[in-house]
Amino acid sequence: INSLSTTQKDRFDKIVSLIKKSHKVVFVAAGTSYHASLLGVYFLHKAGREAQTLIASEFRDYANIDEDTLVIAVTQSGETMDLIDALKYARSKGAKIASVVNVPYSTVQRMSNISIEILAGQEICVAATKSFINQVILLLAIAKDCGYDVDLDKLSEDIKSVFRSEGKIKEIAHSLANSKDIYIIGRGLSYPVAREIALKLKEISYVHAEGMMGGELKHGTLALIEEGTPVISLINGNTDIISNTMEVKARGGRIIAITNQENKNIEDMADDVVTIAAENDASFSLLATVAGQLLTYYIAKEKNLPIDKPRNLAKSVTVK
Ligand code: G6P
Repeated sequence: INSLSTTQKDRFDKIVSLIKKSHKVVFVAAGTSYHASLLGVYFLHKAGREAQTLIASEFRDYANIDEDTLVIAVTQSGETMDLIDALKYARSKGAKIASVVNVPYSTVQRMSNISIEILAGQEICVAATKSFINQVILLLAIAKDCGYDVDLDKLSEDIKSVFRSEGKIKEIAHSLANSKDIYIIGRGLSYPVAREIALKLKEISYVHAEGMMGGELKHGTLALIEEGTPVISLINGNTDIISNTMEVKARGGRIIAITNQENKNIEDMADDVVTIAAENDASFSLLATVAGQLLTYYIAKEKNLPIDKPRNLAKSVTVK
């Protein structure tokens, strides 16, 4: 964050001014970076800006781009082939291109009119973890400058506080190590987090997982809930997610709540509770992600899996 008022100040101010000038913002990304961009949409909406995000590989068919659009690519490597292809298309439509990257001088950075770096340092393991956190922090800082009322001062301390729950998370991981399917539900800004935790469960813990909107449960997934089916519920003060969680509980689901709320209903319905010290929505998204990352790490460890190098996956996907 410090770099945004020092070494990267010019670029930061330019991105913010482009966002303010453009008719709409369309993020484009893949994998974990896509989940960060979904949060970016949420934050920009809170700042009153028009924004959406699209998966890079489907960009050409689902985007409506013109000269008044600002396309923001979010990418750790800056080399994802689908993303490069999407940006070529955006450029052909006359859109301005901005990017949020980790790797400097990468192809995406070179294709951009303006690019800002998350400065997360080299990320060696296949699973994107620290890059996701830093992407989200940068998107928060951009949204804050556009008018989102959010306090970012205590974020790093708050993130460290998640490790107070490490013992509890380890216990839960032990009990989940043999699970075949895990569902994660969230609403609002917890929805992208649910998707991100599911992705991590698949890629490093080799567990089938679905991260979804709490409100969509009743349209299909509820049929899969049996006695003991694990469901992780991300509860950040939204009362609707509590009712969604109760619906799961009523069907015998095993509830693991990740929450910053002190609420008797949550304690009563949850089999396990991981409490995080998030003071606002923005920090909830980061702290809940870190709790999920730790959980998936410990499940993978229980199963003796190659955490840094999961099978069949690559750090940078340079094919279509
Ligand atoms: C690969 C990586 C993921 C990453 C995705 C997008 O699938 O294994 O961790 O989220 O590519 O990569 P990018 O470098 O564009 O963020």
